[in-house]
Formats: sequence, structure tokens, C-alpha cells
Amino acid sequence: MRRSRKRNIQPLLRESTIVKTDLVAPLFVDENLADPLPIMAMPGQFRYPVSGIARVAERLWNQGIRAILLFGIPKNKDPGARSAYDPDGVVQQAVRKVKAVLPAMVVITDVCACEYTTHGHCGIVGEMHSGDQDLLNDPSLELMNQIATSHAEAGADIVAPSCMLDGMVSSIRRALDDAGFSDVLILSYSTKFASALYGPFREAAGSGYSFGDRTTYQLNPGNRREAVLESRMDMEEGADILMVKPAGLYLDILADIATLGLPVAAYQVSGEYSMIKAAAANGWIKERETVFESLTCIKRAGADLIITYFAADVCRWLDEE
Ligand code: PBG
Ligand code: ZN
Repeated sequence: MRRSRKRNIQPLLRESTIVKTDLVAPLFVDENLADPLPIMAMPGQFRYPVSGIARVAERLWNQGIRAILLFGIPKNKDPGARSAYDPDGVVQQAVRKVKAVLPAMVVITDVCACEYTTHGHCGIVGEMHSGDQDLLNDPSLELMNQIATSHAEAGADIVAPSCMLDGMVSSIRRALDDAGFSDVLILSYSTKFASALYGPFREAAGSGYSFGDRTTYQLNPGNRREAVLESRMDMEEGADILMVKPAGLYLDILADIATLGLPVAAYQVSGEYSMIKAAAANGWIKERETVFESLTCIKRAGADLIITYFAADVCRWLDEE
């Protein structure tokens, strides 16, 4: 192609470019810690104590990050996930601390129970008609309402319910509105696949399940029509932002969902991060080039936002350019 032969013209004709405001940085806050704890399966990532989270957020802000996604690891777990909606719970404390120093930082909270339940599932578990133990949809809805409302009370700008219950978005929307939080947005994990790429997240968030799996409430990776349908239903229930998770292996789905009309976030998950980190640490691939290629392709496919553990690295690399 004639136009790509001239190097100085290439930037003018570039179709997809990563900018800092595309990025959302996930952060793990652990109520049991006094000092940051490295996450072994995710080199460069840490669990932070509540007391240190505002400083971490400030560092990200100074690098140019304008949105964070908070996950909490509580002191106490129980089958009903009571610590998840405690007004003084780990996420609620962290939100208040970040907002106190950075009122303009967009604080997104993961609304789920798997870090807070002893069994590690994402909501209330009970016996199905078959006799199997599994996630109970309607009792879990009430729990999500309580978690989302408590996050909003602490000051969250956006709540991100992540467990794909039926009717979850409309239920949380109503609960937020009834509590006076009509300006709090819902970023639904609307299209979430049952993926092996969440492996490292279990160490990060301490949320491995003790029985069964998540295939009864997460999507089969081979199902494209169902994946779009799930996001469409959340849109109709009042979601403000949709999500595709994981990101890199699901670009066709991302492109489909971007046509629905709502903003779309893509979640480059823990396994995507760790695969790049591991190969780069071995000298098998170049980290920076691989990360930019991966994120650029996610953006090209239709993402408005990218949730990525590389957020801070990308800011540093962009500053170096
Ligand atoms: C659970 C949750 C998971 C992730 C985010 N929220 C794990 C799961 O659904 O099994 C995974 C994120 C990652 O792997 O980076 N609600
Ligand atoms: Zn969960």
C-alpha cells in the first residue's frame, strides 16, 4: 500500500489508538493485611491493605488513570456473605478512603459474593430440585441489592454486578433508585464466559469455589448467539454499560455487542495478564509490544473501556513515547 510506505503518515491514518482514559485499573483490597502482598500468579500485582489503598489510587491518578475497579477480601466469610454489605466492610471502607482524597476518580465496585462466602460461590447456595447444591437465583438477587446499595452509600460511582443472575440488573436498578442513588451507574458483567482464564484471579481475590463450577451461571465459550442475548437482556433491564469478559479470545462477541448501542467494557482478565507476563519473563515475547497489540485489537473490536491489570504499565509506556 502506497500510504503505509511513508512512516510519517502512519500515525495520521491509524484507526485505533489506546489512550489513558480507555483504561480501568482493577485493585484488590484485603482487610487482613497491614502491608501489600504480592500475588504470585500475577507478577506485578498486589493485594493492598485498606490503609494503603488511597495512596495507590493517588499514584494511578498521577499517572493518568481516571477509573478503578475495586475487589475486596474480607476478614470474615459466611454462607450468606454478610460482610459483603457491611457498611464498614472492606470495599465500603476503601471507597470512602479513595473518594476522600480523589473525589473525581471514577470508583467502580465489583458486586459479587464469591470473595465473601465460605463456599466461594457468587451468591446464596442451596439445594436444587435435582438434589445438587447450586446458586439460588432469587435469594441471591436480594443479596446483590444489599451489596450494591451499600457500595453506593460509601460513594461508588458505578456498581459492577458480576454474577449474571437472571433479573439482576433491573433488581439492582430498582434498589438503587429506591435508596436515592439514581445517579449511580450499572456496569453489568453482561456477557461473562465460564473461562479457564480466571485461574490467577482465585489467588488474587481468594475466591475459589469448594464444589461444583460456574457453568450454571456463566456462558459456554462456544455460544455466540446466547452471548449477545445475555447482553441485550441486561440492556433492556437498564444497564448503563455492558461487558465482555474475557476480552482477547472473544473479539467477535465484543464486535457483536458493540452494535447494541450501549458503551461496552472489555475485561482483559487475570489469565490474559499472566500469560503475557510469563512469556515475557522467559524472553519469549516482548511485553510492551504484546500488551499494546492486545489492547489495540480489543479497542478495534469495539471496546469503549478496557479493564486491564496492565493499566499502570500502559500509562508509563505512553509517557515514555
Ligand atoms: C467473580 C469474578 C471473577 C473475575 C472477576 N469477578 C471470577 C469468576 O467469575 O470466576 C475474574 C477476573 C479475572 O480473572 O481477572 N465474580
Ligand atoms: Zn463472583
